[in-house]
Amino acid sequence: MTIQKGRVAIVTGAGQGIGKGIAIKLAEAGANVVACDINEKNAREVVDEIKASGYESLAVACDVGSKPDCERLVMSALNQWGRVDILVNNAGIIRDALIYKMTEEQWDAVLRVNLKGPFMMTQASIVPMKEQKFGRIINISSSACKGNIGQANYSSAKAAINALTYTSALELGKYGITVNSICPGVIDSEMVRSVPQNILDRWLAVIPAKRIGQPEDMAHMVMAYAAEEAGYLNGQTIYVDGGMQTGLKM
Ligand SMILES: NC(=O)c1ccc[n+]([C@@H]2O[C@H](COP(=O)([O-])OP(=O)(O)OC[C@H]3O[C@@H](n4cnc5c(N)ncnc54)[C@H](O)[C@@H]3O)[C@@H](O)[C@H]2O)c1
Repeated sequence: MTIQKGRVAIVTGAGQGIGKGIAIKLAEAGANVVACDINEKNAREVVDEIKASGYESLAVACDVGSKPDCERLVMSALNQWGRVDILVNNAGIIRDALIYKMTEEQWDAVLRVNLKGPFMMTQASIVPMKEQKFGRIINISSSACKGNIGQANYSSAKAAINALTYTSALELGKYGITVNSICPGVIDSEMVRSVPQNILDRWLAVIPAKRIGQPEDMAHMVMAYAAEEAGYLNGQTIYVDGGMQTGLKM
């Protein structure tokens, strides 16, 4: 599987964790990477790391929940390199609470970043992708899309991002644009480091791989979806979770 040198990739939430792993892997494969994050310092550090390895990259501070920011992000890629080939909708947040305690603010914050953000980034990115007759959109969902206690907001957003993937794939296939989702299981990142150890232990017990996933495990799947050869791979959702979703958990 290959990425043609000079393809331009936007990765949202690239300042740390899974997004950082994806940004570095895409750069190593030959893409010019636009690393976007609401945390500008982290985005810049990732870009410095990529550039230090001899690859092209650009840091853009952006809140994916803001439509003007999404449009400015795509424009930054176009101003720098004249095209947008790959979009990885990775930025995400959690605001966990049981349903009876969940506030409207917690609900709105998660839906804004985790669902409206990918929708607005898709809208902005498909303008150049349609002209190019080439695009790869990869949505980072979650195995929580099937439901998770304390995550009504997050699991609803992640189920909906899979639906966004299916509809986008149906609408955009004719322009040479593919749209696919990845549902990570439990992956080593700041997001997961905030989870209490007793809950992590419970998760580990039901992961057949018997380890927490690494950002690189997600990056390898992104490479498969983003590859030149993957033009007929469209509208798919794949669980990259060490087998956690498989079979009965008794
Ligand atoms: N870590 C896991 O176990 C896991 C499991 C399933 C799905 N995911 C998903 O993977 C993605 C990455 O998660 P992670 O674990 O690396 O989390 P993380 O918290 O380590 O990183 C998320 C990044 O997104 C950025 N971000 C947050 N809000 C933003 C906004 N409004 N605009 C732009 N950037 C913003 C953050 O600054 C951060 O750099 C998320 O969509 C998450 O839901 C993670």
